[in-house]
Amino acid sequence: MTPCPWIVRTKLLKLAVPLALIIASAAVADDSPWRDPPGMAPIIDEFLGRMTFEEKVGQLGLYTSDWSVTGPTVRAGYKEDIRAGRVGAIFNAYTAEFTRELQRLSVENTRLGIPLMFGYDVVHGFRSIFPIPLGEAASWDLAAIERSARVAATEASAEGIHWTFAPMVDIARDPRWGRIAEGAGEDVYLGSLIAAARVRGFQGEDLGAVDTVLATAKHYAAYGAALAGRDYSTTDMSDRVLRSTYLPPFKAAVDAGVATVMTSFNELNGVPATGNRYLIADILRGEWGFDGFVVTDYTSINEMVPHGYARDLAHAAELAIDAGVDMDLQGGLFTEHLAALVKDERVTEAQVESAARRILEMKYRLGLFEDPYRYSDPARQAAEIYKPEYLEATRDMARRSMVLLKNAEATLPLSPNPGTIALIGPLADSKSDLIGSWSAAGDRDEKPVTVRAALEERLGDRGRLLYARGAGYAFEDAGDRSGFEAALEAARAADVVIAVMGERADMSGEAASRTTLDLPGAQAALLEQLVATGKPVVLVLMNGRPLALEWADANVAAILEAWYPGTMGGPAVVDVLFGDYNPSGRLPVTFPRTVGQVQIYYDMKNTGRPLTPDKVNEKYLSRYLDAPNTPLYAFGFGLSYTRFEYSDISLDATEIGPGDTLTASVTVTNTGDRAGEEVVQFYFRDLVGSVTRPVKQLKGFEKIRLAKGESRTVRFSLNADDLAFYRADMSYGAEPGEFELFIGSSSDDVRAARFSLKGETTMSEF
Ligand code: BGC
Repeated sequence: MTPCPWIVRTKLLKLAVPLALIIASAAVADDSPWRDPPGMAPIIDEFLGRMTFEEKVGQLGLYTSDWSVTGPTVRAGYKEDIRAGRVGAIFNAYTAEFTRELQRLSVENTRLGIPLMFGYDVVHGFRSIFPIPLGEAASWDLAAIERSARVAATEASAEGIHWTFAPMVDIARDPRWGRIAEGAGEDVYLGSLIAAARVRGFQGEDLGAVDTVLATAKHYAAYGAALAGRDYSTTDMSDRVLRSTYLPPFKAAVDAGVATVMTSFNELNGVPATGNRYLIADILRGEWGFDGFVVTDYTSINEMVPHGYARDLAHAAELAIDAGVDMDLQGGLFTEHLAALVKDERVTEAQVESAARRILEMKYRLGLFEDPYRYSDPARQAAEIYKPEYLEATRDMARRSMVLLKNAEATLPLSPNPGTIALIGPLADSKSDLIGSWSAAGDRDEKPVTVRAALEERLGDRGRLLYARGAGYAFEDAGDRSGFEAALEAARAADVVIAVMGERADMSGEAASRTTLDLPGAQAALLEQLVATGKPVVLVLMNGRPLALEWADANVAAILEAWYPGTMGGPAVVDVLFGDYNPSGRLPVTFPRTVGQVQIYYDMKNTGRPLTPDKVNEKYLSRYLDAPNTPLYAFGFGLSYTRFEYSDISLDATEIGPGDTLTASVTVTNTGDRAGEEVVQFYFRDLVGSVTRPVKQLKGFEKIRLAKGESRTVRFSLNADDLAFYRADMSYGAEPGEFELFIGSSSDDVRAARFSLKGETTMSEF
C-alpha cells in the first residue's frame, strides 16, 4: 500500500530540520538572485533520495490542460499520468477550484505527494487585460510596465497559477513577423530594461509570496530573426550579432532573477535552439550562471526531427537533455525515452536528477512543499478578479502606450462639444479585437469596452454619434464594398470622422506572419473614400505590428496608434482623443514606408556609400530607386498635444579616460499650451572601431512631465563601460577614439555633441 504522502512529507521535514539549521548558520556566499530559502537543499536532497528514477523523470514533463465550454479541463490520460507521478507541471489550467482538484490528484495519490506546478501564458494580463507588450513598450515607462506585470501576477496567482510563460524578450526587427506584437520592439537597450521590469513585476521581491509567479524569458534565442519574417523559420547570424543584439535582453532577465527560460522553435546557425548546447549549457548556464530551469517551447524537442537534426524522437530527447533542457513542454519525449536512453548509456541518471532538482527547487521556492494549495484560494480569487483598480490600471497603461503619429492643424484633441462624430471601421465596436493575441483568462466577449461604447458615454448629450462598420478587415473582404455607403453617409453628415482600423487580433501573434503591411481587407479603400468626403479624418489604429501608412500619413488629418489596448481600450482611446490624457507614447520600433524597406531599424550601419542629404541625386549609393531610405516614423517618434523645445547639449568634459564619467545635459521646455510628457532620448555613436559600429545606439532616456511653460534640465552620464562592444577579437570593452552623442525627442530628431575616450577598457561580460 502507498503510504500517505503527507506522513512521508512530515518525516522529511523533520529529518531536514538539523540540516536546515546547519545551512542557515553557514555564511554561504550566494550571488543567486533568489536567496535560497533555508532548508531547501536538504529537503530537495531528501526527496531526490527517495524518488525512483521514473518519479524524477515525471518532474520533467509539462502538459496542457484543455478547455470545454464550462472552463478548463484535463484529458483522462493526463489525470492518470498525474496520479502515477508522471507529470511535474500542467499549463493552461486555472481557477482556484480546478487547480485544487488537479493538485489533489498529485498530492493525495502519488507516493511522495510532490505538488504540481501550474503554468500559463499570462502575457499582458490574466483577467484584466493590458495592452499588448509592444504597446506597453511604447510607453517607455518602466514603472508602469512593472505594475502591469504585478497586476497580472496578482490576478493569476489567485487562481492557482504559479508560473507565467512571459516575458517574451525577443528583439524583433521585422514587422512581417507576427510575434513582434509580443515583445518590446527593436532596441537592445530599451528591450533589456523592459525585460527586467517585467521579470520584477511578475516575480516581485519574493517567489514565496502568494501573489508572485515565476517568470519565463522566452524564446531563447534569436527567434525574432526568422528569415523573411516567417514564423518558425531559420535564423542565421554571426556570434557578434547574436551577442550584441539578440542575447542582451535574456541576460538582463537572468540578472533580474528570472526563474525559467524557454527555448525557441527556430534553428540558429544550423542547430535548433532546443538542442543547442552553445546557447543553453555554454552561454546561459556557463557564462551567465543561470540556475533556474530551462523549459522547451511547445513540442520543440520533437521538432528537431523535421528540422533534420535528430534521427528520431529518442535522439531528439537525448539532444535536448544534453544541451541543458530540464522540462519538456507537451512533447512527452522525456517521459517516453529517458529510461531507455539511460539504459543505453546515452544519457546519465545524473543529468535527469539535476533537471529534476532544478524543477523541485522552484516548487520549493514557491512554497508548494509547505502548502501545495496556497495559490489556489477561492476567497482570494473572488476578491482579486477584475478589481476596479486593476481595470483602471489597464486603462492607464493603455493611454500611456498610445502614440500620436500625426496631428495636422491641431485636429486633436477634439473639442468637448464636437458636434457630430462619424465613427467608422471594423475595430470601432469589436470587443474581442481590443484584447489582441494571448488573452489568458481574460474575457473577450463581455468585459472589453469598445471605442463606440466609450464615445457614447463620453458624448452624452454633448454631441451626436453616427456609427457604421463600413468595411471588413479580413483579407478576403478586400473586394467587398457593401458597407461603404452607410459609412460615407455618416461621414458626410459629420463634423469629424473617426476611423478605427487596423488588423484583426489574430493577424498578429504566433503563426501570424504577413507579406504586406497594409490595412487589410477593404479598409484602405474605405479610408480613401472617407478622406474624399472632405471631412477631417482621424485614424485610430489597432494592430500588432508596424504598418505601412504612407498614404494615410499624407492624407488623413490625425493618426493615433493605439495597438491592441486591452480590456479598457475604448475609454483609453477616448481619453486621448478628447485630451483628458495628453499622448506620451514613443515608437519602440521603426515604421517603414513600405514593406520593401524591411528590415529597417534605427541602429543600422553607415555602409561605405551612405546616402546623405547632399547626395540625393547620386546613383551608386546604398539606396532604393523607388523609395527613400528613411522610415515613415522613426524609432522613438511620437507627438504630443504640446511642444517641447531642446537647448543645445552641454558637456562637462569633452575627453574621458577609462575611470571617468561624462555628463551631458539639455534643457527641455514645454512651449505649448498644456502640460505634457516628453521622452528625452540619449544616443551615441562610436565613429571608428575595430569592427564597424551602428550610426546611433540608445543609451539612456528619461520620461519627464512638464507644465505649460516649464523647463527642466535633463542629465545623462556615460562612462567607458557604456561604450563597450564586442571588438574584433570578440573581447568586450570600449576602444579609445572619437564619439558623438545625441539627445533629442526621437532617433531622427536630435542635437549632437562630440567627445573622445582615451585609454582602453576591457570587461569580462556585458
Ligand atoms: C508558444 C509559446 C507559449 C507556448 C505555450 C507556444 O506555441 O510559442 O510562446 O508559451 O506555446 O502556450
